[in-house]
Amino acid sequence: MDKIVIQGGKPLFGDVQISGAKNAALPILASTLLTEGENTFHNIPDLMDIKTIKKLLKSMGVQIDGNETCKVSAEKITSCDAPYDLVKTMRASVLVLGPLVARMGVARVSLPGGCAIGARPVNLHIKALQEMGAHVELNNGYIEAKAKKLKGADIYFDIQTVTGTENVMMAATLAEGTTVLNNAAREPEVVNLANVLKGMGAKISGAGTDTIIIEGVTSLKPTEAEIIPDRIEAGTFMIAAGMTRGEINVIGCNPHHLEALINKLRDTGMKISPIKGGLKVSSGEKINSVDVKTLPYPGFPTDLQAQMMAYMSIGSGLSVISETVFENRFMHVSELLRMGADIVIQGGNAIVRGVPMLHGAQTMATDLRASASLILAALAAEGTTEISRVYHIDRGYQAIEKKFSALGADIKRMTQ
Ligand code: UD1
Repeated sequence: MDKIVIQGGKPLFGDVQISGAKNAALPILASTLLTEGENTFHNIPDLMDIKTIKKLLKSMGVQIDGNETCKVSAEKITSCDAPYDLVKTMRASVLVLGPLVARMGVARVSLPGGCAIGARPVNLHIKALQEMGAHVELNNGYIEAKAKKLKGADIYFDIQTVTGTENVMMAATLAEGTTVLNNAAREPEVVNLANVLKGMGAKISGAGTDTIIIEGVTSLKPTEAEIIPDRIEAGTFMIAAGMTRGEINVIGCNPHHLEALINKLRDTGMKISPIKGGLKVSSGEKINSVDVKTLPYPGFPTDLQAQMMAYMSIGSGLSVISETVFENRFMHVSELLRMGADIVIQGGNAIVRGVPMLHGAQTMATDLRASASLILAALAAEGTTEISRVYHIDRGYQAIEKKFSALGADIKRMTQ
């Protein structure tokens, strides 16, 4: 198993190019199940999760060629099964459920089960499909859904769910009549997917607001589209500039998608200004401690909470970090403590007392964003840090050690 070894304490300088968004590419690749013919997508990131969804789609008979530019054709679907082995490695595999029921009238998708950051149920995906007329049973750990023809419905999501909104929006494109999604997720990745579906001929309005209206059509045609930049990857590099007392040009990001973070980082004293094609981000004189509360978009993203906590652990005062999206997303705390951070968890809050310096240690990645926070902590720390179980980071960050190394970091991947 690979590990990452970092010799910390080097300020990072230079340009970093942001890759395509994992969380946009995954539903967009799944959406091809709705079309016959060849779709072309640009800016697909090179990540483990993308390999997993490609493997899943291929197992269903979908033809896929290419990497960054990827041609996908679901002319014939030969299987409507998403097996446990693939779903357990990546929960987003559940995104094939809506498209399969809509096009094929049947789907058998493994229940994702728990993961390191909480229970993460898919009850809202299932309830919405039932409201659209699907017959859904849970058998032997699988969601078995059937529908001759889905019907438009007025859906209300109790909680804003990103993949839930995406799954049901995809299903509604081929339903009979109009579907209204109330309390829908507003994430930029939902908008990217809606635009792709519109390119396929779907009739969708309101994506990016909490009410999305989809008028069903009888068929969809293939399209060509671009994946938006990864705002979480961009945010991780922005925080790295502040933590290492450096200056990074984050190229290819979309500043509008990063407003909550930009606002917070400015409060910490960092300087952020627009440049051609991205943002120039540099550290301030000192690191002001700030409070952070995660919320659905446009609030502060839960996927940057761990990285922000690493940053606040070297802040000049006290910071309260409240996690409101997932109930158990503080797995990185025990690892940051091993590096000398002073953090106490009280329910959904982490109380972070800034320390002058973190110290290198042997650490273990527990989930995707937790591993990013350990890399940031290690880059700012005195001494050497080893991070094991880096397969978590390969799920969501393209060539992370190469990108940091090009900015001047002393970071190596070691294969054991
Ligand atoms: C997506 C992102 C993930 C991000 C998360 C929140 C993808 C592939 N993943 O995950 O990176 O951290 O949004 O921004 O896009 N919930 C239910 N029932 C459901 C569905 C969700 O109770 O049926 C709850 C979850 O447990 C959680 C909250 O809703 O507390 C939000 O989760 P959700 O937006 O669904 O997360 P994902 O779509 O899985």
